Amino acid sequence: MKIFLIGYMGCGKSSLGKKLAKAANMQFVDMDSLIEEREGAAISDIFRYEGEEYFRNLERSIIDELSAADGDMVISTGGGVPAWRDNMAKINSVGESFYLRRTAEQIASRLSPRGRQKRPKLRGLNDEELVAFMRENMAEREPYYMQATHCVECAERSDAELIEYILSVIKKNE
Ligand code: S3P
Repeated sequence: MKIFLIGYMGCGKSSLGKKLAKAANMQFVDMDSLIEEREGAAISDIFRYEGEEYFRNLERSIIDELSAADGDMVISTGGGVPAWRDNMAKINSVGESFYLRRTAEQIASRLSPRGRQKRPKLRGLNDEELVAFMRENMAEREPYYMQATHCVECAERSDAELIEYILSVIKKNE
């Protein structure tokens, strides 16, 4: 079983993914971290020096690689993955995908200054610009996120509750 967590930057895919993998005794893969490790560079530098398309192609090759790999895993994707080419079709053909849905306001209030700084698309925006950018960008991406096999409303739910919910859905589908 492969569980893909998808959703907007800062919605909690990586931290939830790590805990979910532990609870389900599955391997955990964080796509952003894997790319940084392999490239030996921070995402912001990959964007700056190689460009977004290069980064998106790296993401796609990791999805292809993980799709072909054996074993159960929880995969935290980058926020832009679903909106690139046919990534959602590929993801849904090999596993279950969960869209962790939060509003721009919720995400903005959770993001640390460092969390903003390390994301090339959010860097340099002031508080007002941040929410405005996220609202617009999220609206463009929502149709792709909604292609997930499951949509999870995250507001007011703790990580433990989200994990319990995701595991119950997986169990039902087995
Ligand atoms: C991006 C999201 C980031 C990272 C890169 C681009 C995006 O991942 O892949 O900064 O376009 O939404 P997170 O969703 O883990 O922040």
